[in-house]
Amino acid sequence: MTQPHGGVDLNPLYVADAAQRSALAEAAGQLPSLLVNSAAAANAVMLGAGYFSPLPGYMNKADALSVARDMHTVGGLFWPVPCLNLSNESIGRAESIALRDPNVEGNPVLAVQEVQSVETLSDDELRLITEKVFGTLDPKHPGVATLVSLGRQMISGPIRVLNYSYFEQEFPDTFRTAPQIRKAIADAGWNKVVAFQTRNPMHRAHEELCKMAQESVQADGVLIHMLLGKLKAGDIPAEVRDAAIRKMVDLYFPRNTVMVTGYGFDMLYAGPREAVLHAVFRQNAGCSHLIVGRDHAGVGSYYGPFDAQTIFDTQVPETALRIEIFRADNTAFSRKLGRVVMMRDAPDHTPEDFVQLSGTKVRELLASGQPLPPEFARPEVANILMEYYQREGS
Ligand code: ADX
Repeated sequence: MTQPHGGVDLNPLYVADAAQRSALAEAAGQLPSLLVNSAAAANAVMLGAGYFSPLPGYMNKADALSVARDMHTVGGLFWPVPCLNLSNESIGRAESIALRDPNVEGNPVLAVQEVQSVETLSDDELRLITEKVFGTLDPKHPGVATLVSLGRQMISGPIRVLNYSYFEQEFPDTFRTAPQIRKAIADAGWNKVVAFQTRNPMHRAHEELCKMAQESVQADGVLIHMLLGKLKAGDIPAEVRDAAIRKMVDLYFPRNTVMVTGYGFDMLYAGPREAVLHAVFRQNAGCSHLIVGRDHAGVGSYYGPFDAQTIFDTQVPETALRIEIFRADNTAFSRKLGRVVMMRDAPDHTPEDFVQLSGTKVRELLASGQPLPPEFARPEVANILMEYYQREGS
């Protein structure tokens, strides 16, 4: 199985031993506490779940700037997106703080952080991080809007994680940690595994991408790994996507070739940089390949359709990652062939021969009350999505 990023062993920061966990939870009750924002909470969940291995916790300013500039920490670890705990609240001179969860009622303690430094981020520094990570400073970009709203105090230091926020309770069948996925892969006897990132219910292009990638790299299986955290307005909620994806896998994939799983992170919409982060954490989950298609992790028209592929050629050093990228071309329904194809595989087609498929288009059709044609979605998937939109609209 593919080795974790940065070493031989995975370093999940969840306190696995129950006695140690309850002792830490009790001690946390005596500590000064900080109600963190959703972005910092999502980072804690990813650190706890081993996906952000080998990071020990939240970055300080020097690491954050270095990662933003050239995707390496000061110590030389390859890492694509700063892992931050930003806040506007003062924590005084506390040496340890209990991080309270903004996404669970009552704001229980999610993790305990040892405070290594509290640094103030200047306008220029925040701009640099924003520009490098998102490629834009436009406040209308949802990821930019979130980042600039988080606060200016950068609280760095290692953490120990007490729980996985709301993800385990809300998605018991789907939320999985990196060690759990590694174990499932080992139990299945798989060696080569293709990971598929998604924040959408899976339309026909998504389905065929998984099948084409699996065949092309001769993988033993596909890991569908959906984002379960926060999304921008208008995106489809995780429980609806989960149901739609499970239906599609049940009906249209051979048995025991797909694992339907998810991870607890908020969408950044950082396009190329997020694609690299996606590769890091799928490597940590034991996958050999990650599918990167058109406008991966993109939003609006901030990124070129294949920027998230070229970053792996131009900015990721060859030895930085062990996971490989399966580069998918634009995938569309061919009217001529009556099936979904990668456009590069149909060189004789004209643009009119294709029906373009995208999550945005699927959402637009659904929102305007139109049925989803079979070129877009399997009928059983379409039913789940149409029911959701009818419920929402009523
Ligand atoms: S994402 O924000 O999670 O990347 P989405 O769930 O739509 O969005 O995409 C999941 C993966 O499928 C990404 O790798 C994306 O590039 C790819 N993808 C989606 N639609 C297409 C398409 N029509 N052609 C090629 N790749 C696609």
